Amino acid sequence: MKRKLIVANWKMNQLLAQLRQFFKTLADAKITSDAVELVVCPSLPYLASAVEAASGSKVAIGAQNVSECDFGAFTGEVAAQMLTDIGCKWVLIGHSERRSLYHETDELVGKKTAKALSVGLNPILCVGETLAQREAGITDATVQSQLRAALKGIAAQTQPELVFAYEPVWAIGTGKTATAEEANRVHGVIRQELAAIYGEAAARSARILYGGSAKPDNAASLLQQPHIDGLLIGGASLAADSFAKIAAAGVVPG
Ligand code: 13P
Repeated sequence: MKRKLIVANWKMNQLLAQLRQFFKTLADAKITSDAVELVVCPSLPYLASAVEAASGSKVAIGAQNVSECDFGAFTGEVAAQMLTDIGCKWVLIGHSERRSLYHETDELVGKKTAKALSVGLNPILCVGETLAQREAGITDATVQSQLRAALKGIAAQTQPELVFAYEPVWAIGTGKTATAEEANRVHGVIRQELAAIYGEAAARSARILYGGSAKPDNAASLLQQPHIDGLLIGGASLAADSFAKIAAAGVVPG
């Protein structure tokens, strides 16, 4: 049985006092079950504080971005080794906001993924179609080609673990969620693509998260789907009680 992975992506939100309050409230919620694994991805300046606030709990900390390069003259960038050095375990790569606002290509996403894996950081590789791509009927082809391009040259991974996230761009921050059935269908397409690249066994064990207006109300129905192994949550992850409710839905689906 795969453990459900519940990931908070705070994007560019939360100050230090809010972070501290979040971890205190989350600890009070006592999510101790081994059925779920929890990850929080705060903004860069707060990563070390988050590692400290989460120490002794079951929550791991992730970054929202990483450089594809090693140390050097790259002003404003952060090396994967720096993230592991301060105790980060995870990193989001290729989020649609990085792709659309900061022009990250599939090739760059692939390089960042390889770099994270090389230092023992677990990448969460994000893919997903825009509304225009969905309306053009190319949802499946879009996620397939994003995966193929990003995974070129990357071997199947269990340690560190390479996790995937399906985030339909039209569902992010819009309140529109893909129906659980449609999200599950696209997850199935992603798993098939992973099987074609890495073989059936690796595809079966890969964890694929859904993201896009996931919240306490819809978490259970999403997490009940056979291909949905967790959630990547934006807005509804900012308040600890809401994040805790979503995590609890992963403990007892339904
Ligand atoms: P929302 O949950 O706010 O729609 O954001 C989803 C997301 O982009 C998580 O990475």
